[in-house]
Amino acid sequence: MMMNLKEVLNQVNQTIVELPYRPNPVELYEPIRYLMALGGKRLRPILTILGGHLFADTWQNWLKPAAAVEVFHNFTLMHDDIMDNAPLRRGKPTVHEKWNNNIAILSGDVMLVQAYDLMLSVEDKYIRKVLTKFNVCAAEVCEGQQLDMNFEQLPTVSEADYLEMIRRKTAVLLGFALELGGIIANGSLKNTELLRQFGENIGIGFQLKDDLLDVYGDAEKFGKQVGGDIIANKKTYLLIEALARAQGATKQTLDYWLQQKDFDKTEKIKAIIGVYNHLKIKELTENKINYYFNLGFEQLEQIEAEEMRKSVLRQFIQQLIERES
Ligand code: IPE
Ligand code: IPE
Ligand code: MG
Ligand code: MG
Ligand code: MG
Repeated sequence: MMMNLKEVLNQVNQTIVELPYRPNPVELYEPIRYLMALGGKRLRPILTILGGHLFADTWQNWLKPAAAVEVFHNFTLMHDDIMDNAPLRRGKPTVHEKWNNNIAILSGDVMLVQAYDLMLSVEDKYIRKVLTKFNVCAAEVCEGQQLDMNFEQLPTVSEADYLEMIRRKTAVLLGFALELGGIIANGSLKNTELLRQFGENIGIGFQLKDDLLDVYGDAEKFGKQVGGDIIANKKTYLLIEALARAQGATKQTLDYWLQQKDFDKTEKIKAIIGVYNHLKIKELTENKINYYFNLGFEQLEQIEAEEMRKSVLRQFIQQLIERES
């Protein structure tokens, strides 16, 4: 039976809308409903289902574990927005802006619990394996987030350190989402391991694209504050490459803006984008994005599954390379 992606997205959203919440205090649960209802691409639960669909057709049985991954993702976003001082998420005020930091911390905490609760819905025979892998993934996401925070304070960061940071904060969750699908669809160890590696590579490409959109995206489509990474001196791929390449007056401009404590945000964003344009950082980043997506596609090739099933996944991933939101 061939998979209809629209139908998958509908059912994922339906599962999320119907998630039960305890009745009170409403201050704890309302922000969760708010953030979850803002939507987003629902990329990770779809990956779980497409990963499983390589090996079986019973995807309607995987909606809860798929939702678990999405709730976990949204928990990380709620806390990430506090850490990044972000005003907007999915085109609307962030939870800590609309309510306050304490609400965003505690609502996020309970989302993590909810994610684990949903994950318990996998068949008994898979529980230990799934939770063990989920634990490693969740710890790595926190490690990546701490590295991201540490790097903001450093004058520069190596490309290798940056890649390891984004592997942990972003890529391992895409890897886990896919591997989870493979496991609960009874895929072989070899195939589920390839799925994880595939997910990590496209996850690195995905975060590189996020860094790119943070500078060159259309604010309306992106739904987040464009230039937020520049304001925070975030050590993105773009900034790291600019720091490695800038010379003379360009280097002076870059250093000047990185050192300013009190500045006009719009002015700083404009100046840094000027440096990026001059150094052709956009093209460089696009090449790197393609490199990691292609690495991922090579692993997808090696997975033993029907070509038709792999092509559904390939086409879905292809859209992520070109995404604007
Ligand atoms: C945002 O994730 C955080 C990153 C890892 C870049 P998404 O871009 O998947 O956000 P939503 O869920 O679609 O809003
Ligand atoms: C987020 O990276 C990764 C996690 C949420 C774990 P970003 O900080 O770049 O994500 P956005 O841009 O706020 O969505
Ligand atoms: Mg962040
Ligand atoms: Mg952020
Ligand atoms: Mg970002």
